[in-house]
Amino acid sequence: MNLEIPWWIDTFRKTPGAFSVSEALALYHAVKDNMDINIFHHVAIDLGSNIGKSSIPAIVALSELGYEDFFYMCDPIFEPLNIKHPGCYWLDDPNFEKKTDAVLKILAPNVKTDTIGMYSTIFLKEYAGRFNYIMIDSGEHLMPLLEQEMFYIEKMVVPGTLLFLHDCGAQYVAPYEMYNKLGDEGGGWRKLDLHYPEIVEFVGKNQLEEGNQSWHCYNNVYSPAFVGGLIKL
Ligand SMILES: C[S@@+](CC[C@H](N)C(=O)[O-])C[C@H]1O[C@@H](n2cnc3c(N)ncnc32)[C@H](O)[C@@H]1O
Repeated sequence: MNLEIPWWIDTFRKTPGAFSVSEALALYHAVKDNMDINIFHHVAIDLGSNIGKSSIPAIVALSELGYEDFFYMCDPIFEPLNIKHPGCYWLDDPNFEKKTDAVLKILAPNVKTDTIGMYSTIFLKEYAGRFNYIMIDSGEHLMPLLEQEMFYIEKMVVPGTLLFLHDCGAQYVAPYEMYNKLGDEGGGWRKLDLHYPEIVEFVGKNQLEEGNQSWHCYNNVYSPAFVGGLIKL
């Protein structure tokens, strides 16, 4: 695998949120290497995107592949009446949504973005289209929500759809259980190799976690690798 320091790393590191640089690199390469451009007429969605730290690597990869359709960011934070996040100081900026959109436009000018201020299950229940890319990083990562999301998602995917679960193998149990259930024999999905050993070593050697505004990367020394990837069979 040909690893380089990505041109979008400064914007990624400056964007506050969850993802580590290792996870971002793993996601970027997984999309670049596994996305079937023949299913580009479907749309991409990040469930629990917050202001898009998890969206950046995927949207750049899709843009570089020539994707021109919608990338939806679904998170109740985009509907101010929904919820408040005491820890997310960046949501106090009244322009955070506009700023998010502007950043993504610069990184991926050919991709259309839309923010959806809804709970994932309400949006998925109402939405009538199909997805080519899905990230699940919503809520508290408990099984009841994940099962509801997958209930709708299974009806909205096509062979080749890429599905990623964050906090897979971290302190949360449900995302890893779901990843195994889907990816094991008969689950309808195949697990992707995200090349973590090589990526984590590269990130460490080049100190790429330095300055990353991630609530998971304590003191810039720990680079979590908790994105699990699957492709629909
Ligand atoms: C772990 S954070 C996501 C971090 C983000 N993906 C990143 O990389 O920075 C979880 C997010 O899920 C959102 N959320 C909570 N319940 C949700 C639901 N039912 N549907 C969609 N998003 C939800 C929260 O507002 C929060 O922003």
